[in-house]
Amino acid sequence: MLTKPTVRPARPHFSAGPCAKPPGWSPNQIDTRILGRSHRSALGKERLKLCIDLMRDCLELPETHRIGIVPGSDTGAFEMAMWSMLGARPVTTLAWESFGEGWVTDAVKQLKLDPTVIRANYGQLPDLREVDWSNDVLFTWNGTTSGVRVPDGDWIAEEREGLSFADATSAVFAYDLPWEKIDVATFSWQKALGGEGAHGVLILGPRAVERLETFAPDRPLPKIFRLTKSGKLIEGIFTGETINTPSMLAVEDAIMALEWAKSVGGLKGMIARTEANAAALDRIVGGRNWLGHLAQDSASRSKTSVCLTVDGADPDFIKRFTKLLEAEDAAYDIASYRDAPPGLRIWCGATVDSSDIEALGPWLDWAWEQMQ
Ligand SMILES: Cc1ncc(COP(=O)(O)O)c(C=O)c1O
Repeated sequence: MLTKPTVRPARPHFSAGPCAKPPGWSPNQIDTRILGRSHRSALGKERLKLCIDLMRDCLELPETHRIGIVPGSDTGAFEMAMWSMLGARPVTTLAWESFGEGWVTDAVKQLKLDPTVIRANYGQLPDLREVDWSNDVLFTWNGTTSGVRVPDGDWIAEEREGLSFADATSAVFAYDLPWEKIDVATFSWQKALGGEGAHGVLILGPRAVERLETFAPDRPLPKIFRLTKSGKLIEGIFTGETINTPSMLAVEDAIMALEWAKSVGGLKGMIARTEANAAALDRIVGGRNWLGHLAQDSASRSKTSVCLTVDGADPDFIKRFTKLLEAEDAAYDIASYRDAPPGLRIWCGATVDSSDIEALGPWLDWAWEQMQ
């Protein structure tokens, strides 16, 4: 019988969103000068602009692309793009897990677009060579609920008539993204940055801006989705003049997280931390015959939302297994997503420390033995 491990992960926060706060995070470090003041004051605009500038730096986003803060977390940002840009040309939606499937549902049932749908089961990618780039193409860069990502941007046509729409919420700050291949990208601070939900981030390449300024969809658009006025892009959204009132507390928290990201070496540092975490977890998986990767192909296996199979596990097993670990403060929130095959999901983004992933291994063994 295994004795209970003596070393606990210092931060047992392995949730795939909201994810672990940056190491050393404390509410005392948040700059609170703007709280209780207008986001449209000079200070408010300055802080929003700083947040945007730090994101641009940390993502290594080229000047060709605009970046703005919008309502509704990643969902808000992605829906805003769909509702305001789709319909100009045929649409292809790709789905290999729950969130991509959600965009398919919206395209079909809400926007009534009759898209070409290309699907793959959990753990797999569809054949990306099938994608017709004369269409607008919607996809999830990193499938948070299946642990499958697109390996790179090589499958995205350089010369494309359609626009590429990447839901990149669990990919940014973890992968080197080929921005010239991405016309629209969205994310939320609550993933790899360890920030808060509530706000989304919308990135627009020049061709997306052109679409917005030349195409007016024949559908009502709520105010919080509107990106243009009289046929021109509302540039203020991309300099800190938000559509409506943001949570400045969430903005300040994101600024703090971005400053931490800078302190660990910016994008390269964040990628290195993520890769070290994923490698540490892979060593744990490799050493146990009852654990496996849901994503079979290592090239398209996520380095952030790593999804694991557990030999013979059903939903009840996973519930009890993860409860044991939570009760011991050894691991929080590591059950697979509710629509995914029963298993574990362990976030390996940059805000997690490798030593905590390493400390998790013996605890997984302990819980496994308790369950036998
Ligand atoms: C790929 C993907 N898309 C969308 C979402 C929804 O994000 P939010 O809750 O920030 O709107 C998530 C959340 O986990 C996600 O992983």
